[in-house]
Amino acid sequence: MVAISCQRDDDDNGGGVISIDLSSIDYDPQAYEVDLPAHFPPLPANDENPLTVDGVDLGRHLFYDPILSRDSTISCASCHRQELAFTDGLKKSIGIDGRVGERSAMSIVNMAWADNGLFWDGRVTTLEELSLHPIEDPVEMDEKLPNLVRKLQRNELYQEKFRKAFGINNTSEITPELIAKGLAQFQRTIVSGNSKIDRDLYLQIDFLTGEELDGFTMMFVEEDRVFEDAECVHCHNPGPFFTGNQYLHNGLISESEAAQNPGRYLVTNVNRDIGRFRAPTLRNIAITAPYMHDGRLETLEDVLDHYFSGGHPHPNRDPLLSMQAVTNFTQEHREAMIQALHALTDTTLLSDPRYSNPFEN
Ligand code: HEC
Ligand code: HEC
Repeated sequence: MVAISCQRDDDDNGGGVISIDLSSIDYDPQAYEVDLPAHFPPLPANDENPLTVDGVDLGRHLFYDPILSRDSTISCASCHRQELAFTDGLKKSIGIDGRVGERSAMSIVNMAWADNGLFWDGRVTTLEELSLHPIEDPVEMDEKLPNLVRKLQRNELYQEKFRKAFGINNTSEITPELIAKGLAQFQRTIVSGNSKIDRDLYLQIDFLTGEELDGFTMMFVEEDRVFEDAECVHCHNPGPFFTGNQYLHNGLISESEAAQNPGRYLVTNVNRDIGRFRAPTLRNIAITAPYMHDGRLETLEDVLDHYFSGGHPHPNRDPLLSMQAVTNFTQEHREAMIQALHALTDTTLLSDPRYSNPFEN
């Protein structure tokens, strides 16, 4: 391939478009088949950005490559670590130059089905749109898109990968849009559905302990006659994603805090959305501490304490919180719930070679 010598790597403004012919590189797109658990619905089709083997491979490289950040120190995987179900274990994420963000990193699993807005407040709609945000965010990667495009145009690995993924004939056709498409394709392939709860309840090939089953029943089975209802099912529906992707007020935000941090309201400007955030998935929840959009709760015990206290009063607080506050779960019951939440960990996800760092293989 042609080597480029005239461009500086940290070039911010100058340089213009880099033009290298790529048409001699093979382009032979093959559909990428996502391997789905038997109890999952089909992967939603995406005609704008169909998954291909080379598209997913490009996206996986981009996801793990710090070239996306201004000073080549931060990759998407810095804050979305596979071994932590693609979170970072921090209360609030740390980006470039040690800058601390406002919110806790979210787990990136089963994103292909997240069709009701993304981020804690749902301010973007598609994974394509979302994927360019962290690159430009001054506290995350702080890179300018035209500069990133030039870095990729000069990079032999990416010259080949963009050609194979999208059939472009020239490096000048590498655009932010194609970067976003590659990143989105990789993220759509990350599926988590192999926890003990899946293997027992849906697949019947593994068995929960009595305690785990009791905890599951308290949290996720409606109209059960044995236990009181912990009400989790309404906002974190098993079905099989353990979220309904709705924006709800779970009592976390007090009225005075909500003035500073109104959540969903920032997107809709509707008063009933003040203090509402997206209810995230409970899959892999035992390994994604700390919890909530600002990481304020450190343990699952803290989470249960929060719900069974009813949280802060607020006009928008969901009525379910009042129902949770009048339950009388014993310490044993709470332990059963924690055990059941632990049974939502999908250990295959955490080391699946399809999602791992391609630069380390
Ligand atoms: C500095 C840490 C950091 C980096 C780097 C980072 N993220 Fe994130 N990510 C976060 C935080 C924090 C949130 C929640 C932000 C919010 O809601 O405002 C998030 C949210 C997301 C979500 C939303 C998930 C959902 O369910 O809505 C996706 C998808 C995502 N990031 C993908 C990426 C991709 C792709 C990259 C690289 C291009 C990336 N992130 C880089 C910290 C980071
Ligand atoms: C009224 C709806 C509602 C109910 C009921 C509810 N949740 Fe939530 N849950 C939410 C919302 C909304 C969030 C995000 C809130 C935030 O970050 O501000 C959340 C966040 C969480 C988180 C943090 C997730 C993360 O990635 O940080 C956990 C854990 C959790 N809920 C567990 C439970 C359990 C266990 C129950 C039952 C005892 C329950 N929830 C009941 C709506 C609900």
